[in-house]
Amino acid sequence: MTETILELKNISYKYPGASDIALDDLSIKISSKEKISILGKNGMGKSTMFLISNGVIRPAKGKVYLNGDEVSDKKADLFNLRKTIGLVFQDPDSQFIAPRVFEEISFGPLNAGKSQAEAKTIVEKIISDLEISDLEEKSLYSLSGGEKKIVSIASVLALEPKIIFFDEPTAGLDNINTARFKRVIDGLYKRDIGLVISTHEVDFAWEWSDRTIIIKDGRVFADGPSDMIMTDKDLMAEAELRRPYLVEFAERVQKNSDEIIYPRSLEDLEKIL
Ligand SMILES: Nc1ncnc2c1ncn2[C@@H]1O[C@H](COP(=O)(O)OP(=O)(O)O)[C@@H](O)[C@H]1O
Ligand SMILES: [Mg+2]
Repeated sequence: MTETILELKNISYKYPGASDIALDDLSIKISSKEKISILGKNGMGKSTMFLISNGVIRPAKGKVYLNGDEVSDKKADLFNLRKTIGLVFQDPDSQFIAPRVFEEISFGPLNAGKSQAEAKTIVEKIISDLEISDLEEKSLYSLSGGEKKIVSIASVLALEPKIIFFDEPTAGLDNINTARFKRVIDGLYKRDIGLVISTHEVDFAWEWSDRTIIIKDGRVFADGPSDMIMTDKDLMAEAELRRPYLVEFAERVQKNSDEIIYPRSLEDLEKIL
């Protein structure tokens, strides 16, 4: 049994001045070392859920628990939440604090009370793991979109989180940087970091995630194994999502079989055909 690390319980939230509620009695439990995709149309509350998970915004109603303990508004509690639950923003620029790459990645560990030497060791390891030593001395403003994304991941990693939330990480990335992103998350998973990724790319979500959560109108509309959720035609249609191509394809070519085998990757597909 894996234990719940983060629990959102009956969370509701409305942005100041907004007419509609962003989150409406939303509850989710997340354990260590999960691979979760968060699906949902624009405006359904995914980003708000991420901001609450990491303590950037506090819920108006409901509670956040970290390792079973309620997260209060106290500085120490929020600090602990932000350290344990990393958040990679959709727009890296809104995450950056320092002017240069090395300082940006060092900021978290130094702020968490590490010495210069300790911080340097942590940062150098991350820079080497993510293969970004060529960027170390650069100004953040001189980086490309893909480079900014990797640096924003690096600065979250420097806090040594247990779970990292990525808000639409591949939006705006080219093929090379998307492939690089996928290598990076594989590496993180191997280092026992749980991953929660919001995305509009259902084909990626299908191939990658074990669990899928669909957010609709600020609520959890569906939550379960990806191969249950993403194959469910009615459920996906009701959430106004398309099913992965591999799922559609599998059903078409196995129309006459009693039990449909769903390939999770092109390699799986090859074996079936
Ligand atoms: N800063 C904000 N101020 C006011 N309303 C917001 C703000 N951010 C998001 N919203 C609203 O909250 C709802 C949920 O948005 P969001 O969490 O960004 O959804 P998603 O990430 O699924 O697209 C939407 O109705 C959106 O318009
Ligand atoms: Mg969003």
